[in-house]
Amino acid sequence: MSDIDDLELSLSAAIAAATDEAALEAVRVGALGKKGSVSELLKSLGAMSPEDRKTRGAEINGLKDRVGEALTARKAVLKAAALTARLAAETVDVTLPLWSSPANEGRVHPISQVTDELTAIFADMGFAVAEGPDVESDFYNFTALNFPEGHPAREMHDTFFFQPKADGTRRLLRTHTSPVQVRTMLSQKPPIRIIAPGRTYRCDSDQTHTPMFHQVEGLVIDKTSTIGTLKWVLEEFCKSFFEVESVEMRFRPSFFPFTEPSMEVDIRCDRSGPEIKFGEGDDWLEILGCGMVHPNVLRNCGLDPDEYQGFAFGMGIDRIAMLKYGMPDLRAFFDADVRWLKHYGFRPLDLPTLFGGLSA
Ligand code: DAH
Repeated sequence: MSDIDDLELSLSAAIAAATDEAALEAVRVGALGKKGSVSELLKSLGAMSPEDRKTRGAEINGLKDRVGEALTARKAVLKAAALTARLAAETVDVTLPLWSSPANEGRVHPISQVTDELTAIFADMGFAVAEGPDVESDFYNFTALNFPEGHPAREMHDTFFFQPKADGTRRLLRTHTSPVQVRTMLSQKPPIRIIAPGRTYRCDSDQTHTPMFHQVEGLVIDKTSTIGTLKWVLEEFCKSFFEVESVEMRFRPSFFPFTEPSMEVDIRCDRSGPEIKFGEGDDWLEILGCGMVHPNVLRNCGLDPDEYQGFAFGMGIDRIAMLKYGMPDLRAFFDADVRWLKHYGFRPLDLPTLFGGLSA
């Protein structure tokens, strides 16, 4: 057996024994690389006689070609095996759910949703949004709103008071959003058209009352607005908010110190089925208080009641949210239970607009 046959045998064995492409490449370099065994044989041709070179040259080149072919064939086999192994290892379970984006997972709280809805409706009627602090003084929450000192109406509010200050005055948590009326009239010139949604506080808790709740105040001050305007604004609001063609409203005389006359407003509804329906039925549901702004309130805010007039209204946001979306227990609103929020919450990218739909 010649040295060439020996080399071919051992190279064939090495090629067959290579189990991956890296091992095969090492065999290739060892044989055909610059200093490889076959390359070394080729280099030896230079020192031979022309006759020897002819025969040896043909033999060595034949070896080089066969080794090259064997390497190529083995490489194809290893490549295919590697691909098969990878495909087996990297299987994808197509039945797994896709990873959900935060925009799909997060939910907007019904209070925020309803606040956005009513803001969209009143903005369309030309109302701006006003704000005031949660911690108020007696003046803004009561006195300026025509609650006389010691008047029983103050007691009706179950107020949370802070410890008295050195001068004897006490701060309080606002019991309604009506103080924003006073702050607005003191800081802006009529015509005024604002709504003021926000948090309010009273010492009260049961299925339909929580110590912290939400109201929206409305205030219109100009020289011409009447009860007729007030009724129109409220009717338009209710139709848009409850997303019905028509609503029937009932204005009952009532008492608030800051309005004269004062009214409470009910809307006709049907509570006989599983869901409450508006605009039909034999039931009435109270949803807000309203009235013409009392001349004393105008005076307290530096406006002349012989020149200016207007109306105000106040509505419980939580209450109309419960009515519209059928949520039975107000306390759940503030439990921060993510399962409740997943069920009753709103998708964050579905912004309520009058043209796109309020509660799409
Ligand atoms: N502030 C009243 C309350 O919390 C609600 C209210 C009634 C507001 C009549 C008004 C109004 O602006 O005119 O009970």
